[in-house]
Amino acid sequence: MTRAVWLSLLAVTPILAGREPPARVADPDGAPATQFVAAHCVKCHGPDKRAGGVRLDDLPADPTKAPDRWTAVRDQVRDGLMPPAKEPRPDAARARAVVAWVSEKSGGRADKAPNRGNLIPHELLFGKPARAADPPAPRVWRLNPEAYMGFVQGVARGKVNGLVQPFVLVPERGIRDFAGLYAIDEPSTEILIRNAEAIVEVQTAHELKDGKVLAKNGAVREFVALMDPKAEPTAQQLESAVQVQFQMALGRRATADEVERFGALYAKCAKTGDRPGAAKTVLQAVLLKTDALYRSELGKPDGQFGRRTLAATELAVAVSLALGHRRDPALTAAAAKGELTTREHVAAHVRRILADPKADTARLLGFFREFFEYGGAEDVFKDKPKAFVHQPRQLVADTDRLVLYVLAADRDVFRELLTTPKSFVNYATAKNKQKGADEPKPGVVLNPINNKGQSGVESVYGVETWEPVQPVTLPANTRLGILMQPSWLVAWSTNFDNDPVRRGRWVRERLLGGNVPDLPIGVVAQVPDDPHRTFRDRLTVTRAAQCWKCHQRMDELGLPFEQFDHFGRLRTAEPVLDPEATAKNVDKKGKPLGPVYRDAPLVTSGTVADSGDPALDGPVKDARELVTKLANSDRARQVFVRHAFRYYLGRNEALADAKALQDADRAFVESGGSFKALVVSLLTSDSFLYRTAPNPPAGATK
Ligand code: HEC
Ligand code: HEC
Repeated sequence: MTRAVWLSLLAVTPILAGREPPARVADPDGAPATQFVAAHCVKCHGPDKRAGGVRLDDLPADPTKAPDRWTAVRDQVRDGLMPPAKEPRPDAARARAVVAWVSEKSGGRADKAPNRGNLIPHELLFGKPARAADPPAPRVWRLNPEAYMGFVQGVARGKVNGLVQPFVLVPERGIRDFAGLYAIDEPSTEILIRNAEAIVEVQTAHELKDGKVLAKNGAVREFVALMDPKAEPTAQQLESAVQVQFQMALGRRATADEVERFGALYAKCAKTGDRPGAAKTVLQAVLLKTDALYRSELGKPDGQFGRRTLAATELAVAVSLALGHRRDPALTAAAAKGELTTREHVAAHVRRILADPKADTARLLGFFREFFEYGGAEDVFKDKPKAFVHQPRQLVADTDRLVLYVLAADRDVFRELLTTPKSFVNYATAKNKQKGADEPKPGVVLNPINNKGQSGVESVYGVETWEPVQPVTLPANTRLGILMQPSWLVAWSTNFDNDPVRRGRWVRERLLGGNVPDLPIGVVAQVPDDPHRTFRDRLTVTRAAQCWKCHQRMDELGLPFEQFDHFGRLRTAEPVLDPEATAKNVDKKGKPLGPVYRDAPLVTSGTVADSGDPALDGPVKDARELVTKLANSDRARQVFVRHAFRYYLGRNEALADAKALQDADRAFVESGGSFKALVVSLLTSDSFLYRTAPNPPAGATK
């Protein structure tokens, strides 16, 4: 079969791939947007006073007539930079509508991308009790890389040689597996075809001995039956092979129509006489079907006008892949039996999978890894310290365990993650063959030669001896929760220093739900290289007005973590170069003997400002106070819920999702902070279960 034919088989209706709900825009003619500019901007950007050289009184009502100026207006309003802070704040809902309108008119999709979810002001989602609103548009969602591997495991019982991962996610921070971002392009199609060939080789592995076909390990009986070059398979044999492949790849039976189509494909390919080759082509074609590689969420008409419910088969996949990387057999079976039709059915399956002690935790843990991003510790290069062992992989593994430990208890999860004094410390397990059980052991064991004179990974945590019973409670008044785990501190550090700016950005975005405009190109984002000054002191470069308009949202939230060094060790002072002592540090002949450091007093204070929650705003004396305040804040918890929504729903929240978000937050609170309750609520929300009938507005296929 030619590549072109494969490509045509694989093509997904482009209108559906990645389509998202159109932005709801109040007015088509732009009058309110122009009025908004007149009310809030023109007094400084008019014909006489053109602040910053920008004039806005003469903006044409149609953004396509002045795209650059309108985008500049949108960005300034969206990022809350204009009107300037001392001016009266515009109404959040009106500002939002203007931003959405300009984006729509200029074809922008900015707020559908990862890390743009916060562009919807928090008050508009949580400000007042929400009512049910229109569900989102139908969509298809390409499998993510792990789910593709789960798919392969589901169809191949043996090892597939030469398998290549066809899919990648965008290189962005945080939650990235968004339905609207991915389609299957030509390079990944090529890989998919080769993978399908390799998978079918395993599925049909056999040898010919004395004219007989003998199945090899991992082969599927029904498929091997088609491998005899001399025997014409019966229609029955062909159909049963197709049915087996459908069941494995798609979790459903082939329809009569499909059986016929694949039969015809076989007949066409077998014309040349290569019967086994024709059978393999048919088996590959099933693996390349769009519904094998995409999650379909089109829905079927529901009793209610304009509303569609996800079909049971769609639901089985949607729930399976929300919680794991493979189709869940019980969900597939329930869908086939008509037992996946109500909210309660879905809730029961979600609870069952979340309670299964044998279930794969990778997808669950994945949310916390993407939310906190402590895994990045492994990507920050650091010189090997002399005094102790820096092993980022172990630090990350310790935090993974801590997250799973908190999730296992499933109580007060948000607060626990931020404030638990417990930690796993250089912890691993090994199988004890005699006892047949896992036993604790140190993750990194010191080697007397290589690690001579070094202290172990424990020392990074401020713990002296390795404990077999973990988690341990860390020394009092030292560190609390994930943001003070060495893994997180390292992940948000640079090669030689702490990174208070990006730590602060993390807090602003992930816990306060705020936005920071991207670092403009052309700005030299560097602190002066003065080794005799503390980092905090050097970071005062950002206090210049043109920098502070952005940095006031970050720096003060990150500076409390100066309590730790960039390896994540608690410290009581910051070593800085002592120029005078260094100058005097010479041998008898006056040759310099090297730099001398002195301890500069450590300042660990910071400030929460413009958080949106007056109870949160104010000074904090250190990282523990900051984190404790955040852990007790409704706002921070709700922002956490917003992120969970993005992970489980595969998109940014829209205004119409306010009810789903509020319900999820309420379920979280009322269950005593059970993450499971939060997930059950999200996966049984209207936002998850329903779609609107497709009626794409003209030209909205972007
Ligand atoms: C109180 C006066 C004032 C008001 C009101 C005001 N601006 Fe400005 N604007 C300024 C000043 C001063 C500058 C130049 C300094 C700066 O960029 O901060 C500026 C700069 C700008 C720029 C250029 C920014 C850049 O980085 O090049 C844009 C665009 C802009 N304003 C849009 C707006 C919009 C849109 C509004 C209304 C929502 C608005 N301004 C309201 C004073 C104002
Ligand atoms: C429009 C917003 C904006 C302005 C204006 C801005 N910055 Fe930044 N800056 C950022 C953001 C966002 C980051 C974080 C980048 C990231 O997450 O990687 C950053 C990061 C930095 C960093 C830390 C780099 C690192 O490795 O993390 C420094 C230092 C910095 N900026 C200095 C400055 C200085 C000095 C100015 C003024 C001349 C300035 N910035 C103006 C947004 C801004």
